[in-house]
Amino acid sequence: MKFFLDTADLAEIEEAASWGVLAGVTTNPTLYARTGGKLADFHNHIKRICELVDGPVSAESVAMTRDEMVRDGRELAALADNVVVKLPTTIEGLAATKQLASEGIPVNMTLCFSVPQAIMAARAGARYISPFVGRFDDISEDGLGQLNDVVAAVNNYDFGHDVEIIAASVRSANHVAQAALMGADIATVPFAALKKCVQHPLTDRGLDAFMKDWEKVQNA
Ligand code: E4P
Repeated sequence: MKFFLDTADLAEIEEAASWGVLAGVTTNPTLYARTGGKLADFHNHIKRICELVDGPVSAESVAMTRDEMVRDGRELAALADNVVVKLPTTIEGLAATKQLASEGIPVNMTLCFSVPQAIMAARAGARYISPFVGRFDDISEDGLGQLNDVVAAVNNYDFGHDVEIIAASVRSANHVAQAALMGADIATVPFAALKKCVQHPLTDRGLDAFMKDWEKVQNA
């Protein structure tokens, strides 16, 4: 499984990239708003992210119609070679994905909450599909179960092009662990949860013991 960072925060991206595990970034309008970014700076901000990351960077269109999505998608894709256009899993999104894919522009279909949505996204030409986990949990439904179903269903077919599943709306290291066991290709993880993925109390305890014992060696 590959790790993507789910953020638009440049400092977080720079830090995670330095760990050697960062394979891509996903952004969305909420994440960009959280940085305090303005509309006029949006394209430059995406360009900066693309420079920091050696991998795909999803930039989302906020258009509601297929024509506007295609126009946005072409503009976003022109910003950098590693831009992936993020579109919602709607009828308009499918139609725009079909067009953009035919032009060689990779699309990540987002806000995917069901197996039929995922299969349709893949059929329309999506390069990435983002089933959301945490938002199911937020409404007391089984987000990991839904992700498992999507992974199993998508892996049943050959869509004639590369399709990767991004476990999205990830909230915890356990979500990441379960997504990996299911065979999700990618997990896109918020910075705080990504840090937790490398932390373990037994690692800390073991390190502490090694340091104390080494002090004894130094004082012997
Ligand atoms: C996916 O690409 C989305 O940006 C993201 O994972 C949404 O997560 P949230 O449910 O925490 O907002």
